Amino acid sequence: MKISVIGAGNVGATTAHALACRSIGSEIVLLDIKEGLSEGKALDMMQTATLNYFNSRVIGCTNDYSQTAGSDVVVITSGIPRKPGMTREELIGINAGIVKNVTQNVLANSPDAIIIIVSNPMDTMTYLALKDSKLPKNRVIGMGGILDSARFKCYLSMALNASANDIEGMVIGGHGDTTMIPLISKASYKGVAISQFLSEDTLNKVRADTMVGGATLTGLLGTSAWYAPGAAVASLVDSIINDQKKLFPCCVYLDGEYGQKDICIGVPVIIGRNGWEKVVEIDLTNEEKLAFEKSADAVRNMNSVIQ
Ligand code: NAI
Ligand code: 2OP
Repeated sequence: MKISVIGAGNVGATTAHALACRSIGSEIVLLDIKEGLSEGKALDMMQTATLNYFNSRVIGCTNDYSQTAGSDVVVITSGIPRKPGMTREELIGINAGIVKNVTQNVLANSPDAIIIIVSNPMDTMTYLALKDSKLPKNRVIGMGGILDSARFKCYLSMALNASANDIEGMVIGGHGDTTMIPLISKASYKGVAISQFLSEDTLNKVRADTMVGGATLTGLLGTSAWYAPGAAVASLVDSIINDQKKLFPCCVYLDGEYGQKDICIGVPVIIGRNGWEKVVEIDLTNEEKLAFEKSADAVRNMNSVIQ
């Protein structure tokens, strides 16, 4: 199986490395517009094959889409960060142009690929890629909820002083500080409701920490995070490539599910060889339903910038 990752910056390169280390895909192509960046990072990764015990082949190229031909999955991480003095609309405009152009180049060479959007604002970029490409809706997936859920479980595990792997938790809604919804009502520790172990105040703090999870890291690092985002993308690709049918919160096109139409936003979906195969509708509390409606309004507002 062949996977291409567009953008060899922090998230793209970490994704490629996580894919290789977990032997997800036999061929991984890394592409960037910066001369030599992908080639250098791919070669560096290949030199860890005997150390990390993987057999995947990692190839780097500078803007040469012919190298990505025949990809089964393509991950789009290309974009620019917000610069001082730049408005949100200007940033969206620039990244929209990049995502549109990259998606067209990708599909010209890999017409059957499943497309994963990582570039921010991710919900809007996913909507744009779907609308512009006119692909079947199941083949365009935005990654944000898997990362936000991993952060949610991390904060819960720290509050409990327990293993994060014993915790279940999911974050739905938009991938933004004010739009994501950590589902406290569904979180559990070894199948037991989390509210039996943590006080309401602690849970409110975990919710708040999760929602600013990305911003906290940006404050510490001076740029956004890459280890957890890369690992989250690798898990999503794994479920597609290996048809694992995992239930992940992903940004997908809704046509009436959760009461929403004509929007891409994070909801629980089954992920397999066909991309996202089914939206799983779970019961939400009234508070969560209201938060989801507000989140959808905010995502629509962001989408209006590109229309
Ligand atoms: P970065 O700046 O390290 O890397 C971006 C790369 O894209 C650069 O190497 C740049 O040369 C490349 N690029 C720009 N235009 C291109 C084009 N037309 N074709 C090919 N490559 C191009 O940024 P980083 O940290 O890797 O983040 C990438 C994106 O992912 C950002 O938009 C960021 O906000 C987003 N992000 C999304 C997350 C999510 O959960 N959805 C999590 C973390 C980051
Ligand atoms: C993150 O959540 C900024 O989307 C990026 O780390």
